[in-house]
Amino acid sequence: MLTLRQVNKVYHGEKVLDQISFDVKRGNFLYLLGGSGAGKSTLLRMLATEELPSDGSLTVFGYDLKKVPPTTLKAMRQAIGYIPQKVRLIPDLTVFDNIALSLTLAGRRTLSLDAKSKIAELLGQLGLMSKSETLAGNLSGGESQRVAVARALVRSPELIIADEPTGAQDFNEVWAIMDLLVKASQRGAAVIVATHDREIIKRVQNSCLVLKEGRLQTQGYRERGAY
Ligand SMILES: Nc1ncnc2c1ncn2[C@@H]1O[C@H](COP(=O)(O)OP(=O)(O)OP(=O)(O)O)[C@@H](O)[C@H]1O
Ligand SMILES: [Mg+2]
Repeated sequence: MLTLRQVNKVYHGEKVLDQISFDVKRGNFLYLLGGSGAGKSTLLRMLATEELPSDGSLTVFGYDLKKVPPTTLKAMRQAIGYIPQKVRLIPDLTVFDNIALSLTLAGRRTLSLDAKSKIAELLGQLGLMSKSETLAGNLSGGESQRVAVARALVRSPELIIADEPTGAQDFNEVWAIMDLLVKASQRGAAVIVATHDREIIKRVQNSCLVLKEGRLQTQGYRERGAY
């Protein structure tokens, strides 16, 4: 689903990612770890097709990102659920409409019953049912982040890229989000989650990629208690 070979990213002459190579396959669940400034968000933005590598090759769904035609790129993005570290909602639209926009640009009146019930189900799972008609601009940080999770997952994407999706959450919400991500990978989606949360890594054990100063340090499965 994803193939990276010797990927570099340079900003203003400074190398932020250095010779990154790994593969992600259907149903894989990977954590991306590393200190602040290690390059996690930069790497995830590239995997989400928001930025191109400076060098090296990045293949998403079998397409080389540097050569993919715009129409194909648009279709690829439909199959990617990206939860950015800095959540971007439309503040003067309701929570429901922010999520609905991920399914249709034509507004909620055009949504099928199935789509409406999928949105309602996600809102329920994420503890947001009572916020459905609230304007996104009036939400707390944690609530906004959960809306971003719902918006990314509502299309049942094949690739899910989550940049510290539980950073602003309390205990129950952390596990509600993790549960949705784990279920998505059990359905066959590839999931990559950047996190600092050792408790999550301990409780939901999966493979880890560790970035340090832009280099991939280790790749593989960490035993319980290793963090
Ligand atoms: N658009 C940009 N222009 C210039 N420098 C950038 C840009 N984006 C990121 N950087 C730099 O790249 C480095 C890695 O940043 P990145 O946001 O990827 O780190 P991170 O691992 O996600 O950190 P955190 O855990 O704090 O979110 C930082 O030194 C940052 O200042
Ligand atoms: Mg980051």
